[in-house]
Amino acid sequence: MPPQDIPLRPEPRVEVQPGPDALATAVAGELLGRLADAQREGREPQVALTGGSIAVLVHRELARLSPGSGVDWSRVGVWWGDERFVEHGSEDRNATGARADLLDPVGATVVHEVPGPREAADVDAAAAAYDELVRDHGPGRFDVVMLGVGPDGHVASLFPGQDSLAVHDRLATGVRESPKPPAERVSLTFDALCRSRAVWLVASGEGKAGAVAAALAPEGTVAATPARGVRGEEETVWFLDTGAASGI
Ligand code: 6PG
Repeated sequence: MPPQDIPLRPEPRVEVQPGPDALATAVAGELLGRLADAQREGREPQVALTGGSIAVLVHRELARLSPGSGVDWSRVGVWWGDERFVEHGSEDRNATGARADLLDPVGATVVHEVPGPREAADVDAAAAAYDELVRDHGPGRFDVVMLGVGPDGHVASLFPGQDSLAVHDRLATGVRESPKPPAERVSLTFDALCRSRAVWLVASGEGKAGAVAAALAPEGTVAATPARGVRGEEETVWFLDTGAASGI
């Protein structure tokens, strides 16, 4: 379950844009600003990317807006909140699209991919290896964890009612029965996702309105709506478009 101090962390704030393109532009602009600020402070910022359709738009906007942003992507640590347990280069792999749309065009070189079937015997071994990678090479905390939100309120690969929600002694866990294909995935746990200065949840379209409303409602459970279980140490922002915000 989420860290105990979640209720003590700053309340989530909501920012609404008119549509998915404006939403992607807003998120990309905000992220570039954070990365540039961290580098100006002399830090190597660490960002955890996500998969999904709105993330694709955000990645493309990041690549488009990056020139002139002052961000040196060769000094940005890139991670994933979750990854499908499929071969490197597979279209089903979150990193494949992120590399093509963003990381290669901007010259990101500090990229920490989740092990795939060639490097790990099974999804649990991949999770254990990624756990170690985050512990040994991670900063101890992320600057920004970016998360898409499923229509069932899942974030990363933490799905309602699954055992992975209760994993708290590890930073990454294997998921074998994802209701969203492919079935096998590696996900950061709530502990890891919440070890971040900022957690940004990004959702577009009316199809997410119910999940957003359930996540932001005063009452509810993390078991039913995992998005309720993630908050940044300093900031939690819901970046929505009017469709996704239509239930709040
Ligand atoms: C994944 C994602 C997943 C995604 C949500 C939202 O690997 O599938 O990490 O958590 O972000 O399912 O996806 P959409 O934005 O496409 O609805």
